[in-house]
Amino acid sequence: MSSIPLSCSTTIAAVSQFSSRPNNHHKTRTHKFEVRCNSKNDETTPQNKIDRRNLLLSIGGLYGAANLVSAYHSPSLASPISAPDISKCTRGTNLNTQQPLDVNCCPPVSEKIINYKLPPVKTMRFRPAAHLACKEYITKYEKAVELMKALPDDDPRSFKQQANVHCAYCNLTYEQTGDSDTKLQVHNSWLFYPWHRWYLYFYERILGKLINDPTFGLPFWNWDNPEGMFMPDMFARKGSPLYNPLRNPNHLPPAITDLRYFGQEAADQSKVIQNNLVEMYGSMVRNVSKLEDFYGARYVTGTKPDPGAGSVERGPHTAMHVWTGQATPTGEDMGNFYSAARDSIFFSHHANVDRLWSLFSGLRSGSKPKDFPDSDWLDSNFLFYDENAQLVRVRVADTLENEKMGYTFQKVDLPWLKSRPTARVPHKNSTKVKSKIRLGLTELLEDLDVEDDDQILVSLVPKAGGEDITIGGIKIIYAA
Ligand code: C2O
Repeated sequence: MSSIPLSCSTTIAAVSQFSSRPNNHHKTRTHKFEVRCNSKNDETTPQNKIDRRNLLLSIGGLYGAANLVSAYHSPSLASPISAPDISKCTRGTNLNTQQPLDVNCCPPVSEKIINYKLPPVKTMRFRPAAHLACKEYITKYEKAVELMKALPDDDPRSFKQQANVHCAYCNLTYEQTGDSDTKLQVHNSWLFYPWHRWYLYFYERILGKLINDPTFGLPFWNWDNPEGMFMPDMFARKGSPLYNPLRNPNHLPPAITDLRYFGQEAADQSKVIQNNLVEMYGSMVRNVSKLEDFYGARYVTGTKPDPGAGSVERGPHTAMHVWTGQATPTGEDMGNFYSAARDSIFFSHHANVDRLWSLFSGLRSGSKPKDFPDSDWLDSNFLFYDENAQLVRVRVADTLENEKMGYTFQKVDLPWLKSRPTARVPHKNSTKVKSKIRLGLTELLEDLDVEDDDQILVSLVPKAGGEDITIGGIKIIYAA
């Protein structure tokens, strides 16, 4: 795997505003659409003489099965998720085992909370692709992490406390403000992108402050590009502060990353790169005609955890967590929510997820909205400690443009944009939780040229863990 050496210039490339492929014309649909589940004999049943094509939707793990109660019709008096009372933090749950966690990830408590305002952008931070980063940059980043690891454990900016932030917001340690019976979980919902954007934002600023560099930006793990489809070397060097021993030893460089990984090596390694590109195209373009398809399901005060993940979260994002962590049931570090952020590579992984969010916004052209105008999303808020160790309250509304938050990404090729597959909707996952899944079918039906068929047989075939999956119901929604 060759990497192109990059000089450490401080030039800031603007975030790419590439044009999306031409909009598909969406015809008015009047035909009926019938979906059947788990009826393998239908293929040969004589009374089913309709022109059926068997649409294979491969679904691994599913993050649990379909939860048919649409979170969109939940509480009539919906209100945005409000920052938790961190003084009420309790011992969380290990979501891989469903057992109480054996670590405490509650943050230090502070009486004073400041409503955070984005500071004016004086210098833009630059986030390079990890595999292209030059030596000076890596040295600087290593120094910053070393200093972060040297902070006392009770400093909310320390490496340990920063990792705990992720655990606290994911492992059901907080109760929801306004509904003390319901726990807060920022994954598998529309809070996924904005919450992680804020998390990385402060992590990056803390590192920048420790090395006195206001231009410091986190490297992103460019796993959506063949050049970046392996663990970046900077994380795999023993003795480096970026190294972590708790990873799958079979996935150290030069192993190729697998965006469809769910615990088993791909049978045909020669197809992995192409499949990765197809997976990316599906998650970024094909399967995301509605905003929730990309962002995840609505999640407000009173919504139970895990209403449903968006395409990237459910697919490549989770695959890369599982791929990186140890091949054990508990998957430390990256393969388990409570421990994931103990591995520095987490922040490069998520810097890429964050970048994909920005790219998605760039791809939505014309009348297609980029994000939810809904105040139940925009007014959701969280608490973080900033680079000065002050507890601040931040809002989703302030996350919509990365450049307004003062950072930008190195521009790299997007080969997945040209990787429209023939016919397939891949998904995967591992943790067993009740959830729901949305599958965008429109483009697939167009490709198969079956849009006008009266009936179509759709089989849902779990790719892994099939025996543990229950599908509780199916609903078809026509996207205009
Ligand atoms: Cu907060 Cu990648 O998980």
